[in-house]
Amino acid sequence: MTAKKIAVLPGDGIGPEVMAEAIKALERISKKYKVKFDFNHADIGGIAYDGHGTALPKETLRICENSDAILFGSVGGPKWDNLEPEKRVEKTALLGLRRHFDLFANLRPAFLYSRLHKASPLKQQIVKDGFDILIVRELSSGEYFGKHTLDDEQGFDEIRYSKKEVERIAKIAFEAAMKRRKHVVCVDKSNVLSTSVLFRKTVGDASKKYPSIKLESMYIDNAAMQLIKRPGDFDVIVTTNLFGDILSDEAAMLTGSIGMLPSASLNEKGFGMYEPAGGSAPDIAGKGIANPIAQILSAALLARHSFKMEDAAISIENAVQKALEEGYRTRDMMEEGLKCVNTKEMGDIICERIC
Ligand code: IPM
Ligand code: MN
Repeated sequence: MTAKKIAVLPGDGIGPEVMAEAIKALERISKKYKVKFDFNHADIGGIAYDGHGTALPKETLRICENSDAILFGSVGGPKWDNLEPEKRVEKTALLGLRRHFDLFANLRPAFLYSRLHKASPLKQQIVKDGFDILIVRELSSGEYFGKHTLDDEQGFDEIRYSKKEVERIAKIAFEAAMKRRKHVVCVDKSNVLSTSVLFRKTVGDASKKYPSIKLESMYIDNAAMQLIKRPGDFDVIVTTNLFGDILSDEAAMLTGSIGMLPSASLNEKGFGMYEPAGGSAPDIAGKGIANPIAQILSAALLARHSFKMEDAAISIENAVQKALEEGYRTRDMMEEGLKCVNTKEMGDIICERIC
């Protein structure tokens, strides 16, 4: 049996703690489905900057290149916040990997079971039926990858999108919608930005190939509002890099915590990096109280997209739902009457339920 190689990049802050739980879940899957995983650990982010002088060492890139998928934790923290903008560890590490592998398609599923609606900060009448939203964020261009300059008097950021870049992310969104509820909302700011005019038009043109899909367009400000007013009406959202960044944090919070949202970042060859959408949470790092669910669900996405192990992915996702339904919560989601557990306990509880 040939082993599937996974580059494991825990990074900074809560990264290592939550990563340990995701690895446990994958080990469980390995036994159950009789597949062998080779985990190759590498430094990334602030810890790599301290040890190697760069947040994305060559050795880490080499390990990623020689792997079948990347499982990423989180990077950054106050210790590295004062580095000059171009050396910031988030930029070097995360944006560096996204650029190196051309990971243009970022899938961020935000899902709330109706039975768990109490976890959401929204009013019960809004979320009582739950919701199931897939945010498809363009990840390799736009605001993040334009020219940035800064001096004492002026900051400058460039936003650029090409038609090709929009076409390829639109295709990902429509293909995903075909397997879901066939509804796509294109989110942009085309009343102000040229890149958004191009985005909206190109997504509209691409939709002609998918006559069974209902396409709507929405400005980002309105979308941010509609998402908290009627989350259940959204299926697939396709949007630009920065808007996707913002909306996905909002959607994560609607499920109860930023610690709940996993993500998959894929390139045209299907190679993928998997990471929680939340950050390194330095304020709670090392305390063993972080929510490992987003990292564990990222491992499920890895099984699904990189290894085509749909059953394994579903069994991890079901185990997470079971743990939540049984009332287990890490501190970020704790409510009266429920059972507060730490990071490791939550990981164990989920692993025991992978069946
Ligand atoms: C995310 C993060 C990153 C982003 C940061 C850390 C650069 O917020 O993955 O959403 O903005 O893409
Ligand atoms: Mn973000």
